Amino acid sequence: MRLTMVGTGYVGLVTGVCFSNTGNHVTCLDVDPRKIETLKRGRCPIYEPGLEELLERNIAAKRLHFTLDRNEAYREAEMIFICVGTPSDERGHTDLRFVHQAADDIAAVLMALGAAQKAKTIVMKSTVPVGTTLALRDRIRSRVGPTIPFHVADNPEFLKEGDAISDFNKPDRVVVGVEDEPTAQAFRDLYDPFVRNGHPIFIMDVLSAEMVKYAANNFLATKISFINEMANLCEAYGADINRVREGMCSDKRIGNAFLYPGLGYGGSCFPKDTLACIMMGDKSGMEASLSKAVHAVNQRQRDRFFDKIVAHFGGKPTALQGKRIAFWGIAFKPKTDDIREAPALTLIRKAAGFGATCIASDPVANANAREDLGPAAAIVDDMYQALESADALVISTDWDEFKSPDFNKVKGLMKSPVIFDGRNLYRPAAMRQAGFTYYSVGRAPVKAG
Ligand SMILES: NC(=O)c1ccc[n+]([C@@H]2O[C@H](COP(=O)([O-])OP(=O)(O)OC[C@H]3O[C@@H](n4cnc5c(N)ncnc54)[C@H](O)[C@@H]3O)[C@@H](O)[C@H]2O)c1
Repeated sequence: MRLTMVGTGYVGLVTGVCFSNTGNHVTCLDVDPRKIETLKRGRCPIYEPGLEELLERNIAAKRLHFTLDRNEAYREAEMIFICVGTPSDERGHTDLRFVHQAADDIAAVLMALGAAQKAKTIVMKSTVPVGTTLALRDRIRSRVGPTIPFHVADNPEFLKEGDAISDFNKPDRVVVGVEDEPTAQAFRDLYDPFVRNGHPIFIMDVLSAEMVKYAANNFLATKISFINEMANLCEAYGADINRVREGMCSDKRIGNAFLYPGLGYGGSCFPKDTLACIMMGDKSGMEASLSKAVHAVNQRQRDRFFDKIVAHFGGKPTALQGKRIAFWGIAFKPKTDDIREAPALTLIRKAAGFGATCIASDPVANANAREDLGPAAAIVDDMYQALESADALVISTDWDEFKSPDFNKVKGLMKSPVIFDGRNLYRPAAMRQAGFTYYSVGRAPVKAG
């Protein structure tokens, strides 16, 4: 099949590369010339394990192309996947600017091709508020008139950054919202190589497909806020969240996935998708009060953690003036260079705002962090270098690299052996024995002897 991906970000690029790998002819379009130049050279502009190898292989096989030219991208395509960003605007509403631009560009090419063309299917892969795909259909129809044929569909994406290739190649399920049976069949054919493990393709109406994505992400976000709330209660009453997790999660109805306390969720999906549910609730008069609470707990979690740092240094944020604080981890989670809505950024900006000197290090997100943080933090490539003369270390991402450091070296480099662990990587008793003052989430702090 001839496919076009609109947008070569985390979703568009992975989707394009994986579809080309099963034999489709894929063109990836972007408006960013730097990205397209990099991709044409077979280099990956984002960090995603395994992606660059597949990219090179499929470029070499001449099944995968990159372009800035909308005409070239849309003219021959049988299916066009819109994979552009759908961020929240400053009011928490979904900003559909990029989706509308893509729709208008597609409409212009459909117009030029005329009424005799074979109907293309325009697929919404971006996460969009319920009703957006049908509104997009109407928007294109109003531009091209009644005679030009096309179909629309919604095909939400569930990949996780860091595991995107395996998530795409072996999805738990594929969800497709369509308006007619031939479009449904085209999706069954396209995804057939990806569901040979017996996992289902759910074909449904377009509105339900859009809602599935929000329901799934809001549920996962809810789990994170829930366990963080329990962790905070553990701290208030002297219980240990790790013991509580074990006791609670061994109940088969609960399970242990996505129930790790920490700094709260970040990234480009959960925060904006929770806000989108809140916005959809407010707009429809069906208040999404649970989503509101999930969002509030999440935002507070970062503040509570910051308050622990402040309390350690005497209780007034001004006490951070002149302190050197090291940060291990900037990405919103391990195995990605994505720093959008990362808790580390909030903590660094707050600490720097009160006069602390912040030195941060991440295994793969340093380049993005330098661009985003500017003078708020010095970014260093060596995780140990960040510790030199530090008054405290904050662990903000649970990269494997941070799980078993050389604690003697850590202590030797720091001015004072104080760790604020936002990911519960270490055991408090072992940290006390190693001579650290150690704060974590949902567990009592220990003081260096
Ligand atoms: N990142 C994830 O893990 C993930 C997972 C599932 C779903 N999603 C959803 O997928 C969508 C895309 O997310 P992402 O993280 O890949 O975004 P991204 O910001 O990484 O990439 C979007 C790309 O679209 C390009 N673009 C914007 N307007 C364009 C246009 N008119 N024509 C061509 N290209 C254009 C941008 O230059 C950018 O390269 C969002 O709706 C997101 O919620 C993301």
